[in-house]
Amino acid sequence: MTKKTFKGSVMLNPVPVVLITSMNSNGNINVFTVGWIGTACTKPPMITVAIRPERLSYEYIKESGEFVVNLPTRSQTKKVDYCGVRSGRRTDKISDMGFSLEESEVVSVPMLKDCPIAMECKVKSIIPLGTHDLFLAEILSVHVEENLIDSNGKIHLEKADLITYSHGEYYPLASISLGKFGYSVQKKVERKKINKKKDR
Ligand SMILES: Cc1cc2nc3c(=O)[nH]c(=O)nc-3n(C[C@H](O)[C@H](O)[C@H](O)COP(=O)(O)O)c2cc1C
Repeated sequence: MTKKTFKGSVMLNPVPVVLITSMNSNGNINVFTVGWIGTACTKPPMITVAIRPERLSYEYIKESGEFVVNLPTRSQTKKVDYCGVRSGRRTDKISDMGFSLEESEVVSVPMLKDCPIAMECKVKSIIPLGTHDLFLAEILSVHVEENLIDSNGKIHLEKADLITYSHGEYYPLASISLGKFGYSVQKKVERKKINKKKDR
């Protein structure tokens, strides 16, 4: 492959773009769009979210130490964009976008009823980086729309019709599986087994 070189920038898309709900001590609830989010740890389940200190959500999350990550679907793209270009300082985005709220199980911040997946998070540490502060948070509880769970209890995120934000554009996340975890070695094992059978 022949590659061109650019100055340093993050090239880790696609990850789903998310809607984060937060609440301050007066019970005011806000929602904002986040693209800079990532997996940090399996046990305990931890995520990272990069938030600019000037966001209203930053204030709310820092104050309460809690937030909910809601995964929106393709049909909600316009709402996602709106929540990422308007601040809760000027308008009530929850009512503007007609979002319904649902009580969470562990945290006091509610989740968005219309999103198929919600993760309740508790902030563990905040690391100032530059333009953004990195919030490291533990996921205390996960809620998944029933239609995405098969009869064996397996969650099919690929059926959720999630969206990603990459370099100024929204895209649907592809829903075709390219192989199961470990398939690269599994094939070899299976082939070996078949060959062994042939040898018999
Ligand atoms: C697609 C998209 C992704 C965004 N990702 C982030 C992000 O990761 N971190 C952040 O601080 N702001 C991000 N923003 C900007 C905020 O969502 C935006 O400034 C919002 O108005 C802040 O709302 P608030 O002041 O009500 O918290 C993003 C905006 C868009 C449209």
